[in-house]
Amino acid sequence: MKRFENRVAVITGAATGIGSAAAERLAAEGAIIEILDIKDAVETVQAIVDSGGQAAAQICDVTNQGQIAAAVSAIETRHQKIDILVNNAGILSGRTPWHQLSYEEMNRFVQVNYLGYFNVSKALYPLLKKSGHGRIINVASRTYFLANPGQMAYVASKGAVMGMTRVMAKELGEEGITVNAVAPGMVATPGTEAHSNEEAFNRVMMNQAIKKRVTPEHLAGLIAFIASDDAEMITGQFILCDGGGYLH
Ligand SMILES: NC(=O)c1ccc[n+]([C@@H]2O[C@H](COP(=O)([O-])OP(=O)(O)OC[C@H]3O[C@@H](n4cnc5c(N)ncnc54)[C@H](O)[C@@H]3O)[C@@H](O)[C@H]2O)c1
Repeated sequence: MKRFENRVAVITGAATGIGSAAAERLAAEGAIIEILDIKDAVETVQAIVDSGGQAAAQICDVTNQGQIAAAVSAIETRHQKIDILVNNAGILSGRTPWHQLSYEEMNRFVQVNYLGYFNVSKALYPLLKKSGHGRIINVASRTYFLANPGQMAYVASKGAVMGMTRVMAKELGEEGITVNAVAPGMVATPGTEAHSNEEAFNRVMMNQAIKKRVTPEHLAGLIAFIASDDAEMITGQFILCDGGGYLH
């Protein structure tokens, strides 16, 4: 028996990148996948179905309450409960000095990268409560520790995710729901490739203990572990998967 058989996993932002790899990994281990993404996730769904898995996707902006409510209602009709929520939909940033950031730009990062996680978690909470072994996995960022100059909007929004993770872990423990955050090293995805070149990826890799590129599949493996029964006593944690690039 596969470890996620009969478990329903909702993954936001799984049209591409880390979310897509996580969806494929959880599906390969038996999970039924529900994707919420502002973009069409047909390629991820097709890859899962072609491998014998089960997946569906809905167009949903995680900042839009109406779209979230409609998506959750469709998931409830199909499955009645969910077991795993991976909050991953996010926007990445280039470099802008903090004093040149506009209010609108700050707000955009807070809305998508932080409140997007809150919105989807809150809307799915009634379905997650029914699981008995619920998991919330928030994709955060180690940039909170690195404090990258020029990335304040991004770093602050991801730092807020860490605060949210810790409080939710304490509040949801009684219901057997674990809440953890994972933080990738620099992973080549459509999101990062828009802001970085090969030289930057190689520079980051050479600062790691393990001098090998971190891939979406490495994150997918970590997410699958945290989603599993083996991780039932791990909650409120922030786990880096960056080849030892940042040691705290
Ligand atoms: N790749 C990295 O190096 C890295 C490092 C640290 C953290 N992260 C985090 O990992 C997560 C995934 O990033 P990625 O690198 O795979 O990026 P990506 O751009 O490849 O994927 C992000 C996905 O989120 C979706 N999305 C964006 N805004 C959305 C919205 N408002 N509503 C719904 N969906 C939305 C996009 O359509 C896309 O499919 C993000 O939260 C990112 O901050 C990535």
